[in-house]
Amino acid sequence: MTLTAVEAAPKAELHIHLEGSLEPDMLLALAARNKVAIPYKTADELRAAYDFANLQEFLELYWAGQSVLLTERDFYDLTHAYLARAHRDNVVHVEAYLLPQGHTPRGVPFAAVLDGALAAFDDARHAFGITGGIILGLNRHATQDDALDVLRAATPYRDRILALGLEGPEKGNPPSKFTRVYDQARDWGWHLTAHAGEEGPPEYIVEALDVLKVARIDHGVRCDQSPDLVRRLADQRMPLTVCPLSNVMLKVFPALAQHNLRRLLQAGLCVTVNSDDPPYFGGYVNANYTQSATALGLTEIEQQQLVRNGFVAAFIDDDLRARYLRDLDAAWPQGKA
Ligand code: ADE
Ligand code: ZN
Repeated sequence: MTLTAVEAAPKAELHIHLEGSLEPDMLLALAARNKVAIPYKTADELRAAYDFANLQEFLELYWAGQSVLLTERDFYDLTHAYLARAHRDNVVHVEAYLLPQGHTPRGVPFAAVLDGALAAFDDARHAFGITGGIILGLNRHATQDDALDVLRAATPYRDRILALGLEGPEKGNPPSKFTRVYDQARDWGWHLTAHAGEEGPPEYIVEALDVLKVARIDHGVRCDQSPDLVRRLADQRMPLTVCPLSNVMLKVFPALAQHNLRRLLQAGLCVTVNSDDPPYFGGYVNANYTQSATALGLTEIEQQQLVRNGFVAAFIDDDLRARYLRDLDAAWPQGKA
């Protein structure tokens, strides 16, 4: 099968939840291995449940699915499987969310979660040359004190975690709830990002920028309810990690053809393309690019710009960024408009 140029190009993926990369077959295998009872017998039964009216309905299934993850080996296997799959999409750099609060309340040691995932990243660097690391995710419906406990538990991993992020049910949980946690992570030298403007209002994007001082916005697509904010995001070249298939599956847009990704790109925003929770939403990163390109009529230059933005927005040093941008230019010479 011949790949399209965007499929073959080296890419960064900046918005993927490791727990959301749990494939139905692996979920069933881990349930059997760990003797965890789940209300599904086959992968098809699980896939049939992937039908969501909104973010909350998805989150409930996503949290339930995480119950099969118990040991360091499980977190290694989960992370390894995702990185190997990303490698097949020619992803060369990954920044992946990991959510300790999804596991430690079930008695899973914090170290099992982090050690398993970090070991898989180390191995993927050797096996595939993939760079990147972990975004420590916080559940936004939990309290700031809970979040501070997560940071305390993360202290021994301070130098091995790339960034802090905020995920979970957005409405009613504004970014400003987590000011102190973000202040501490900033003091530690971590990069900062947060989900905002997926289901929540543009004001949450503004709070993430002004109060949490994030360097990137996850989703952010509801910025288009505020022309002033769209202008600001364009002027600052503030990256948005957009997840087109996720947005359709969670009814943020009625169909891919109505997605605002192209409009935002044309307005000058630093839009990137990502997969969020690929088995739940029907596609890994290449599927997000190719299906968006078809539905929105993206030109080759626009597709190249999206791939390029992924490296521009990555939490990497300037030397590595320059190397990846050169590799991209070599692999995919100037496209046609
Ligand atoms: N956790 C996993 N996927 C998410 C999403 N799309 N929004 C908020 N939290 C999430
Ligand atoms: Zn997400």
